[in-house]
Parts: sequence; C-alpha cells; structure tokens
Amino acid sequence: MARSPSTPVGVFPQTRMRRNRRWDWSRRMVRENTLTPDDLIWPVFVCDGVDRTEKIATMPGVVRYSPDQLPKAVGEAKALGIPSVALFPATPAELKTPDGREAWNPNNLVCQAIRAIKDTHPDMGVMCDVALDPFNSDGHDGIVRDGHVVNDETIEALCRQAFVQVEAGCDIIAPSDMMDGRIGALRVALDESGHDQILLMSYAAKFSSGFYGPFRSAIDSNSFLKGETKDTYQMDPANTDEAMREVALDIAEGADMFMVKPGLPYLDIIQRVKEQFGVPTFAYNVSGEYAMLRFAAENGALDYEHVMMETLMSFKRAGCNGVLTYFAIDAAKLLNGE
Ligand code: PBG
Repeated sequence: MARSPSTPVGVFPQTRMRRNRRWDWSRRMVRENTLTPDDLIWPVFVCDGVDRTEKIATMPGVVRYSPDQLPKAVGEAKALGIPSVALFPATPAELKTPDGREAWNPNNLVCQAIRAIKDTHPDMGVMCDVALDPFNSDGHDGIVRDGHVVNDETIEALCRQAFVQVEAGCDIIAPSDMMDGRIGALRVALDESGHDQILLMSYAAKFSSGFYGPFRSAIDSNSFLKGETKDTYQMDPANTDEAMREVALDIAEGADMFMVKPGLPYLDIIQRVKEQFGVPTFAYNVSGEYAMLRFAAENGALDYEHVMMETLMSFKRAGCNGVLTYFAIDAAKLLNGE
C-alpha cells in the first residue's frame, strides 16, 4: 500500500499488532506474565485407613489419600517444584459432633497427615484449613446454636484447632471459616504459644458459592449441611467493596497472605485486592471450577491442557502470587516439559 508522508504514525499500516505474534520467539519476548510451579499450591484430601486411595466421583482425577500414602504423593509434587500443599481431611461420620471437637484432637486425621509429610519432606510447605466443617455434625464452619453459627465461641474452637495443627508441624494456618476477628485471635494465640513464625493465609474474601459443591462431597459435609447455605458468614457474590473491607481488616489483624475464593468468577476482586493493597494475593481455583473443565474435557468439548493452562494464567494476569488448584500436578508436569 502506498504510504503518503501525511499518514499518521501509530495506526495501520505502520502499526501491525500481529508482527509480535508471528514467531514463537517473538511471542515469548513480549509475554507479560509467566506461570511456574512456584505459583501452584496443591490441595490434597486425606482419608482414614492404611494403604488407601479413594476416587472422588465429582472430581475426576482427584483422590483422597490415607496418611501413609502422602509421603509419596507429596514427594512427587515436591520433585515437580510445587512449594506447598494444603490438607483437607475427610473425617469419618461417626467422629462428627455439634462442637466439632475432633478438630482439636492432636491425633486427628489432618495431624496424622502433617506428621507423615513432615517426617519425609521437612522442607515442603504444609498448609492447613482452619474451619469446623470437616468435623461438625451440622456441616457448618462454626458451632451452631439456636440455628445460628455463633462467632466468638467458634473462634475459641478455631484457636484450639490451629494449635494442634502447628504442634503437628503445619507451617501455614489458613482460616476459611469467615468468622469476624479470627485472624487477630489466631495471631495472638499462636504468638502466645511460642508459634510466632507460623504464617497466616487468610481466606479473606470468601464468597458463598455454588462452586464448592464437589469439595463438599469430597469431605462429605453436604450431607450434614442438608441444603442450608453459608450465607450468614460467607460473602454475598454481589459485593466488591465489602471484600476490600475484609482484606483491610485481615491486614490490620496480622495476616501474611490473602486469598480470594472462588477464583474464576472473582478475578475482578483479585485484581482490585492486588491494586489497592499490594499484598501477597492468592486465589483458590475451587473444586467446581476444576470439575467444570474436567467434565467438559472428558466429554470432548474442551482441550484439557489448553484450558487448564489458560485458566491458571488468568490468575497471574489478574495479579495473583499463587493459586490453590487441583490442576497443580498436571500443570507442573506440563511446565516441566513432561
Ligand atoms: C471449608 C472449605 C470449603 C472449601 C475450602 N474450605 C468449602 C465451603 O466453604 O463450604 C472449598 C474448596 C473447594 O471447593 O475446592 N471451610
């Protein structure tokens, strides 16, 4: 095309956005975000028993491991360069009570799991959820009285739960319960018991989401929840400013890391948290997000590897420092060229 000297610079045909996209090497040169195994946190389900792995029907490709199976599974994650795992126990139904007391049994499933991992992999980061739902016969994250999840009494229970987990060797306490004031209370309780180096990753902006469905069947909390919602403590999906207040409070209360959950439907929250506060920000790419892609891929609608990597990159683009994801092992293998 003839170019007259008066054609303004900066528009077509001088500017051709596709030049940078033409070659693999040029695409790599202009890439704005990267994904590495360092960005991945692997959530792992734990079941009772010995030498067992149990499939989870709602999460194809994900299994529950008995504690003795964890050194091998976690060893694989470590070899792939994944820095930490997050543990979730599937507590036997007969141990669930209204006060969730199994949560602070120093020999409960999650404590057994921590010890099994730390005995073999002391340099692997181990993160544990703090919330009563795996132990509570009402299926809620806190103690229920007169039909309401009580805040302050639940916090005392959560502090006990966190204590047995750190005594067993857990490095990061991750409260997912959404009680008010729990970060400050946990920080004080940890500091006063000689655990001032234990990290707190707050599930700061956790929404009352339908995307937790497969997780609730994986730890069998939904059969106890009996159709009730968690709307009186988890956030309304309609709200953004409220998420900023939650994060601001958790910063003030002493959290070290901050999570937005679920991930994909809340990328706007992630971006705003990162921009407004500049804190270490994480997303939980939750069970329902995993199941959606996995079931669609199994039925030929999507290419599994392609949508997995695209999804994980979206979290980096939004501003995440890392992602809790059931894709962790598959993604790390791909990133390592396996
Ligand atoms: C429980 C908890 C939930 C998840 C992590 N911790 C579920 C819930 O709040 O009901 C969900 C994780 C997932 O869906 O993958 N406090």
